[in-house]
Amino acid sequence: MTFTNSDRTRLADLSLPIRSLFTGYILVIGIGLLMSGAQILLTHGMADGKFGISIDDIVYSYYGNRSNSKLETKLNGSMRDKAPMEVKREIIRWAQQGASKEVWDTKIGAHFQQYCVACHSVIPALPSFKTYEGVLPSAAVDTGETIDALARVSHIHLFGIAFIFFFVGYIFIHAIGFQPWLQAALIVTPFAFLLVDVLSWWLTKWYPGFAVFTIIGGVGYSIASTIMLTTSLYQMWMLPLRAK
Ligand code: HEC
Repeated sequence: MTFTNSDRTRLADLSLPIRSLFTGYILVIGIGLLMSGAQILLTHGMADGKFGISIDDIVYSYYGNRSNSKLETKLNGSMRDKAPMEVKREIIRWAQQGASKEVWDTKIGAHFQQYCVACHSVIPALPSFKTYEGVLPSAAVDTGETIDALARVSHIHLFGIAFIFFFVGYIFIHAIGFQPWLQAALIVTPFAFLLVDVLSWWLTKWYPGFAVFTIIGGVGYSIASTIMLTTSLYQMWMLPLRAK
């Protein structure tokens, strides 16, 4: 593999063995991209219970579904009249933000003491709300992907996919008929959108509004790689035929 600027051999002029190598790679990568699309649809795509990828799916996957704690459900339901509005709001916000021990110690514990333990410590069938540990199960919310998992998936994704785009771009370098700036833009686009994609997972973990960038990133690099892969295939096999 050479990396000189004079390396402008056209795809159509490459030897049969090299074209075979590139073609095998392109076909496998193309099928791989389709498979990963299918996998995303079937896992993340079903996160909101409906088929097809949507903003909600991405929010549920990375940010979680934070309005599903028992505390929140009950404080808006059968426990509605047990505490003043402001107290209920503070408890719900505390649960949504991860039910930290610090905030429990400084504020939330006192609310439970004042409004809840009269029943929730004496009635045996009810969870006791005297202690932080007693409340925790009721405060549990789905906070989405963990930092551990995000870091793991991010680095695998970045390393692995950068490799794919490198070779896709390397093959496409030999395509003809593109303005250099356009060809360069197509080659760089997948890398840029890959960063947008991975960055958006992290941002969505804290700010659900960023979920839309996950879709933009994925669509962006799919389109750019599809153009490069199909163009390369076409120029390798169809152009030589037409020249004859
Ligand atoms: C007058 C008694 C009483 C008070 C005060 C009370 N609760 Fe309850 N709570 C109950 C009873 C009875 C149930 C079971 C019936 C139900 O789920 O509605 C219950 C159930 C719950 C549950 C569901 C428990 C489970 O695991 O099924 C939660 C959560 C809860 N209460 C939260 C609270 C909070 C928070 C407060 C204070 C703001 C509070 N309750 C104050 C009587 C009380």
